[in-house]
Formats: sequence, structure tokens, C-alpha cells
Amino acid sequence: MADMQNISLSTEGSILTITINRESKLNALNSCTLSELKEVIQSVYDDKDISGVILTGAGEKAFVAGADISEFSLLNELNARKFAEEGQEIFEMIENCHTPVIAVVNGFALGGGCELAMACHMRVASANARFGQPEVNLGILPGYGGTQRLTQLIGKGRAFEFLMTADMMDANQALSFGLVNHVESDKDSALAKAKEILGKTSAKAPIAIGLVVDCVNAVFNHDENGYQTEANAFARCCGTEDFKEGAKAFMEKRQAEFKGE
Ligand code: COA
Repeated sequence: MADMQNISLSTEGSILTITINRESKLNALNSCTLSELKEVIQSVYDDKDISGVILTGAGEKAFVAGADISEFSLLNELNARKFAEEGQEIFEMIENCHTPVIAVVNGFALGGGCELAMACHMRVASANARFGQPEVNLGILPGYGGTQRLTQLIGKGRAFEFLMTADMMDANQALSFGLVNHVESDKDSALAKAKEILGKTSAKAPIAIGLVVDCVNAVFNHDENGYQTEANAFARCCGTEDFKEGAKAFMEKRQAEFKGE
């Protein structure tokens, strides 16, 4: 991968941590950052040695404070649809990735930052996290899937309130609304919690884990029969070597050793 300006990567075992690294601009997503993010996510699709991904923001103050507002002057009615669709495509890549992706939300997750966190499979927040979709303050609305995913995660009435008022919710509110899975005291503890979860998922059969992603996402795809998707996924798992190993290991009272085959 070419040198990146706004994203840094680190690997611990098979866990990849992707850090949006534009701290002076509260990690706002400019076009360069988005294209780097797309490249990194593509590399996760291509690398079977990565068993889990953590996505976070540099520093303590922000996960991501939104799309980069300084680039908004370029937007007009003709090019804005493409702008939204390109962002949506990257966030869908995250949502559909067969490798579990956890957002560790430190500080502000606003606009595109909240949308990015919601595209991840799970969210662990530090106590200072603040979530919101403040786009109506700017005369727009979320364009990277925020109206859809916020409604899926916290329900219609609450989504209307946050989308229409631009109010922020704190970490505990986000927890009680189901927007985040866990709240930890600080960023380090949130990272540790995410690693603990990925330590568990990494020990499971990778094909089954990937198909869980397809099945859960099918709930929200109106063109898809999720029950059929599940039955197909179940059948696919039963054709794997890992299924044989899982059942055999249980009978032999030992830990299964999955190979992703
Ligand atoms: N796009 C571009 N730059 C941003 C940004 C964004 N979404 N959010 C923050 N920044 C920049 C600020 O312009 C500032 O840059 P500067 O130091 O060169 O002036 C820097 O990040 C620090 O932000 P600042 O506003 O000074 O910090 P704060 O603590 O006073 O406020 C926020 C923090 C998050 C409340 C405030 O930055 C904010 O409201 N950001 C925009 C959030 C938003 O509307 N996001 C949705 C966009 S669609």
C-alpha cells in the first residue's frame, strides 16, 4: 500500500488497527482520507491473515468530527449525489466486510463520523464520546447512510429527534439507545475491550463469522429474504472443513482449530 497521509495502521497479531490521523482537524474526512480508507478496507478484503479490525481516531478529542466542511464549497446539486454515493460505497464495504470491524469511538463522532461508526459491525465508546448528526445545522442532511443506519440502530422516533434537532448524545445515552455496545472509561480501555471482543471472534470459524455479517445485513435489505440467506449460509457452513473440525473438537473435548476452509 502506498504511503498514506491521513491514516495510520498498526497490527497486533491478526488484529489491524486503522487510525484516522488528522488530529488538528478533529480527523474530519476529506476526500484524501476517504480514498485512503477505501484502499485500506479493500486490503482487509484481500488479506485472510487479518481476523479483526479496529477503526479509531487519533487523539482523545475526536473519533471523526464529520465530513470535511472546508470541501463543501465544491458541492452543488449536480455533483453532490456522486459525493454521497462514493461515501456510501466505502461505508457499505465496511458494513459488508467478512472480517469483524469495531469502531472505538473516542470523543466526537459527528456527521460522517457517526455514520462511519454506524457502518462498523460494533461500537465501543470511551466515556467522553459524543454522537450526533448535525448536518441540518449546515442546511443539509446525512449523505453517507446516516438516516438509514441511525434509524436501524436507535429506532424511528429517536432517529427523527437526533436528525432534526442536531442534538448530540453522550456515551451513556448512546449505550441506552443501543447505538454502542459498550462504554469504557477512556480510550485505552475502549481499545482493550474491542481487542477482547476480536480475540473471541478470531477464535471462531472465519467462514461462519463472515456469513453472520451477510445474514444480519440481510435484515435491512428489503430486496433480500433474510431467512433464505440464513438457510443458504447455514448450508454453506456445513460444507466446510471447519464445520467438521468444530463438531469433532467438541466430541473430543478440545478447542477447535479453525482454518477458514
Ligand atoms: N470539517 C472540517 N474541519 C473541521 C471539522 C469538520 N467537520 N470539525 C472540526 N474541524 C476543524 C476546525 O475547523 C478547527 O480547525 P482550525 O483549528 O484550523 O480552525 C479544528 O478542527 C478544531 O475544531 P474546533 O471547532 O476549533 O474545536 P471545538 O472544540 O471548538 O469544537 C466541534 C468541536 C466538534 C463541536 C466542532 O469542531 C464542530 O462543530 N465541528 C463540525 C461538526 C459537524 O458539523 N460535522 C458534520 C459535518 S457534515
